[in-house]
Amino acid sequence: MIDVERSVLCLKLTCDTNPRWKTMLSLLLPVMLTVQAMAVMEVQVPEQPVVALHGRDAILNCSFSHASPMNLSDLSVFWQLTDTMRSVHMYSEGRDQLADQAESFANRTRLFHSQLGLGNASLLLRRVVVADEGSYTCFVRVQDYGSAALLLQVAAPYSKPVVTLEPESNLRPGDEVSLTCVAYGGYPEAGVIWQDGSGRNLTDNITTSVVANEEGLFTMNSMLTVVLEPNSTYSCRLINPLLGEEGYAFVTITGQNIAFPPVALWVTVGLAVCLLVLLIALAAVCSRKIKESCEEARREAKEAKELEEGESKTAMTPLKS
Ligand SMILES: *[C@@H]1O[C@H](CO)[C@@H](O)[C@H](O)[C@H]1NC(C)=O
Ligand SMILES: *[C@@H]1O[C@H](CO)[C@@H](O)[C@H](O)[C@H]1NC(C)=O
Ligand SMILES: *[C@@H]1O[C@H](CO)[C@@H](O)[C@H](O)[C@H]1NC(C)=O
Ligand SMILES: *[C@@H]1O[C@H](CO)[C@@H](O)[C@H](O)[C@H]1NC(C)=O
Ligand SMILES: *[C@@H]1O[C@H](CO)[C@@H](O)[C@H](O)[C@H]1NC(C)=O
Ligand SMILES: *[C@@H]1O[C@H](CO)[C@@H](O)[C@H](O)[C@H]1NC(C)=O
Ligand SMILES: *[C@@H]1O[C@H](CO)[C@@H](O)[C@H](O)[C@H]1NC(C)=O
Repeated sequence: MIDVERSVLCLKLTCDTNPRWKTMLSLLLPVMLTVQAMAVMEVQVPEQPVVALHGRDAILNCSFSHASPMNLSDLSVFWQLTDTMRSVHMYSEGRDQLADQAESFANRTRLFHSQLGLGNASLLLRRVVVADEGSYTCFVRVQDYGSAALLLQVAAPYSKPVVTLEPESNLRPGDEVSLTCVAYGGYPEAGVIWQDGSGRNLTDNITTSVVANEEGLFTMNSMLTVVLEPNSTYSCRLINPLLGEEGYAFVTITGQNIAFPPVALWVTVGLAVCLLVLLIALAAVCSRKIKESCEEARREAKEAKELEEGESKTAMTPLKS
């Protein structure tokens, strides 16, 4: 009873401000005037929010009790957005009346005409988008009149998260690094949980940002700052409040990411020492060889000089003699 009175009040308010609703008013006015005197029709919708996947079709269930047999030309069904009261779909006088339908629902709504006579006023909403989320009211009138509202929630699964490391190389134990976990194309906002290798919940130093694209789908970007230790694993879990846990990704930081860990350092030092020893040996050998060849050259020169001197001596001998 309270529900009906509230709807009537709302309709009156809307009609005052929006001339488009005059048709609606003329249709429902007899109902409004007599509603207090009549038994209220029972209209049923799901109590729990209806979760629809982005891009898929959804059925907004609405059923009503009726005195059978029912003449369909006596039936009116009106689906509207509860908050803005914009028309989603209207049926009366035995056919759809879509002149007042909100633009965003054009070609996307359908009633199950063959089911109407059985008390099924459910609405098929095709290609659901994020903007469709909200409360929908189902009004039904035969002789009696009733309404009920349901909540439509839109969900979209996120892409598999990807974890990246910044900086990526030349890391040393004790360095501060940023780990970034990115997932996109989902809805609604997901929870992000970072854990280390032993499953410990890392809550410090996390910055999470959410950006919506033009379709209203989110890109989640979560950044964790850690002080690097060798052999550590960091994982990122994405939890969609409507779809549950969605994705999981991790990085393991091993010696390979870290420049000059102890083992590599010693290998490097060892190699350097070997190279140095080799160079020194080579230099020693070379210098000895050079010295030898120098001495030889000097000896040869000396011998040649002596020989020359000898020769000159011999040459001079005849002069002396
Ligand atoms: C709609 O109603 C039918 C029949 O009662 C039921 O099988 C179906 O699960 C309902 N769908 C939703 C989305 O509530
Ligand atoms: C209404 O009819 C449609 C189409 O047959 C069906 O999918 C839906 O579940 C029905 N809803 C109820 C509440 O019976
Ligand atoms: C349904 O109602 C219309 C108009 O009130 C009437 O012309 C028609 O004969 C009725 N049909 C049945 C089956 O009662
Ligand atoms: C709906 O469908 C009609 C006919 O197919 C088309 O002319 C119209 O542009 C469509 N409207 C939207 C909003 O898609
Ligand atoms: C992680 O810690 C945060 C804050 O302390 C808490 O809200 C959240 O529930 C914890 N998550 C898990 C899986 O333990
Ligand atoms: C958080 O970051 C600060 C500096 O940015 C650092 O000193 C601190 O150790 C970090 N905490 C953890 C748990 O990594
Ligand atoms: C890192 O892990 C490797 C392989 O699991 C292991 O051999 C090495 O000892 C570990 N190093 C440290 C510092 O824990």
